Amino acid sequence: MAITKGYELEPCILVIFGATGDLTRRKLYPALASLASEERLPQSFAVVAVGRRDKTSEVVREEAKSAAMAQGMTRESDSLVDALLGRLHYLQMDFDDAGAYPRLSSFLTELDDMYGTRGNRIFFLAVAPQYFGTIAGHLHRQGMAENNIMRTWQRVVVEKPFGRDLASARELNQGLTEAFGEKRVYRIDHYLGKEMLQNLMVIRFANTLFEPLWNSRYIQQVQISVSETVGVEGRGTYYEAAGALRDMVQNHMLQLLTLTAMEPPVALDADSIRDEKVKVLRSLRRIDQRNFTNRVVRGQYGPGIVDGRPVVGYRDEMRVNLNSNTETFVALKLHIDNFRWSGVPFYLRTGKRLPVRSAEITIRFREQPGVLYFGQKHHALGPNLLVIRIQPEEGVFLQLNAKQPGTQDTIVPVKMDYCQNCRAGLNSPEAYERLLADVMRGDSTLFTRWDEVEYAWNFVDEIALLWKEADTPVESYPAGSWGPVAADRLLAQEGHRWLLPLRCLLSERPQGV
Ligand code: BG6
Repeated sequence: MAITKGYELEPCILVIFGATGDLTRRKLYPALASLASEERLPQSFAVVAVGRRDKTSEVVREEAKSAAMAQGMTRESDSLVDALLGRLHYLQMDFDDAGAYPRLSSFLTELDDMYGTRGNRIFFLAVAPQYFGTIAGHLHRQGMAENNIMRTWQRVVVEKPFGRDLASARELNQGLTEAFGEKRVYRIDHYLGKEMLQNLMVIRFANTLFEPLWNSRYIQQVQISVSETVGVEGRGTYYEAAGALRDMVQNHMLQLLTLTAMEPPVALDADSIRDEKVKVLRSLRRIDQRNFTNRVVRGQYGPGIVDGRPVVGYRDEMRVNLNSNTETFVALKLHIDNFRWSGVPFYLRTGKRLPVRSAEITIRFREQPGVLYFGQKHHALGPNLLVIRIQPEEGVFLQLNAKQPGTQDTIVPVKMDYCQNCRAGLNSPEAYERLLADVMRGDSTLFTRWDEVEYAWNFVDEIALLWKEADTPVESYPAGSWGPVAADRLLAQEGHRWLLPLRCLLSERPQGV
C-alpha cells in the first residue's frame, strides 16, 4: 500500500471507457493530474479516452485540464501535467460495436510503439454496469483481456453500482471474470481509498494500547455514522432504484464495519486482509421477520433547511416519483456473532440531507466498576471514546477522564484530538489517486473481492425483501435533522443514543441540530 514514485511502476496504457462521463471528469482526470504532478505515474504511460461522442483529442485534453483545475489538482501551467495531457488520446467508438474493437486494439499497439508501454493495459469501465459484460466480452474475443506469454498484463477496473441485488451482481461478475479472471478484476469501493480507512488497520494493529481492548469485554458499543448534507444531486433515476440501502450500506458502510471488526490478518497482502473481512460478513446475525423492525429503520427527507438554505424534499427532486417510497436514510443495529464481538451492538447510520457532512467510527468503551469513581458524586465522568475521523477531518480522537486541575476530586472528560489534515501541507491523496496508483502496481488490497460483494448483497437483499413484504411507508424526516425518530428509538431500546459527530461537539462549526 506504499505510495510509489512513478519510476518504480511498469509501463502501461490506461483505457477509460465512458470518457465523457461524470466520473471521468470529476474523479479520474483530477486524480491523474495530481499523480502526474507528483511524478507518481509510470514513466512510460499513456491514456486513451474512449467515448461515443464525436470529439478530437485536443478538445478532450482541454476538458481534462479544466476538470483537474476545477478540483484544484493543477494550475494553468504545470509542465508535468501538460506532459501527461500530451499523452491523452481520444478514440470515438460504440461499446456495442464488435467491429470497433480491432480498431481499438491496433490503436493501442501503435501507442505501445510510440510510448514504450509494452502491451500492458488497464481498462477502466466508467460506464453504466449494463455495459460491463458487453465491453469485457468484446475485449476477450478480440484477445485483449488475457495476460500473454510476452508477460504483458491486462486489468479491468469497475465502479459501483455492482448490480442491484445478488442475482444481477452475479451476472455482471460472470461477464467480467470470464474475460479477465478474478485476480485481474478491480472493483472499486472508493471508501477503501480514503486515508483513514487505511489508517484504521494501523491504529488497531500497531498499537498495544488498543488491540488488547478491542473486544466485547471492553467495548460497550460501536457507532458507524456517515452523514451527508447533499441530496440526490440530479441522480434521481439511479437513486429511485437504489435507495440508501444499496447506494451506501451494501458497499461503503459494510466496508467500514468489516475493517473495524475483523481479526488481525496473517499478513498484509490483499487476500489475507480480504479473508478476514469476509469472515465478519459471514458472522453478521441475520435480520429476519421477527426482529427487523427493532433492527432496521429507514427514512426519507422532506423539505427543510440545510446549511442555512431551504431545500426541497426528496419527492420533489428531479426524476423522482411524487409518491416515492425510496429511503434516503438507513439506521441499523447489527450483531457480529463471533468470539470477539458477542453481545456488542454495532449501530450504523447513513443519510442524505443531514445537518453536517461527516464520517466517523466511534468505539465506546465500557465503564469501570463503580467502586472508586463511577459513583454518584462523579456524575460528570464520561465514557472512554475512541473516534476514527474519516472525513472531512481525518484523524483520531480520544476521550479520557482526568481530574480537573485545582479541584479536590472533580473529574472531567478530557479530549485528545489528532487531526492529520487540519495542519497545512498535510493533504492526503484523494481516494481515486490512491486507487489508480494501486491498480498500476497490481495491488488489489483496497478493492473488493467477489465473495465480499456476494455476502454483502446477500445481507442487503434480505432487508430489501423484508421491506418489500411489509410494504410499510418510509418515515419522513425534515432535511437538516438527524433522520427519523425511529432511528433514536432503535438505540433507546438498549439505553443508548446516537453520538453527534465530533465536529459538532468540538465546535469546529455550528451545531446543526
Ligand atoms: C457514492 C454514493 O458511492 O458515495 C453517493 O453513490 C454518495 O450517493 C457518495 O454521495 C459519498 O461519497 P463521499 O466520498 O462524498 O462520502
